[in-house]
Amino acid sequence: MKKIVIIAVALALTSCKKESAEPFGTPTTTNSATEAKTETAATPEALGKELFETKGACIACHKVDTKLIGPSLQDIAKTYKEKNGDLVAFLKEEAKPIIDPSQYDIMKANFAITKAMSEEELKGLEAYIYSNLK
Ligand code: HEC
Repeated sequence: MKKIVIIAVALALTSCKKESAEPFGTPTTTNSATEAKTETAATPEALGKELFETKGACIACHKVDTKLIGPSLQDIAKTYKEKNGDLVAFLKEEAKPIIDPSQYDIMKANFAITKAMSEEELKGLEAYIYSNLK
């Protein structure tokens, strides 16, 4: 008798679960999609690359190995390494330009974007820029 009660309760529970699980199925899918996106930016460098090309729009003026509107990433990485510069501080507008101060006004317009970024995002940009060091 006891057994039958237990089975009945178990059945009732599982059937309940099934019904209530389905309406919530859609948001769960959205969640796992955003999770997958963060996973692709697993390293600071990967996060930086993504920001550089999307949210930061830095790619519009900076190329990896040739000067466009701004200096190339290789130039930036090389100069910052040699002069022991602080890229994160520069992007927070806390450090002066050391590469091309005459063109600084053009770069300055981007601080609205970079100053709104988290420390982690700025560190990512720094890691990505340094990853282009030749
Ligand atoms: C509208 C064009 C433009 C965009 C977009 C742009 N930059 Fe620049 N950037 C420049 C120019 C021009 C310079 C050269 C002036 C200078 O050295 O400050 C520069 C210089 C720099 C420097 C060297 C600073 C120094 O010490 O002289 C860094 C680092 C940099 N940019 C990073 C970035 C990052 C990161 C982004 C994206 C968030 C970005 N830039 C977006 C034009 C741009």
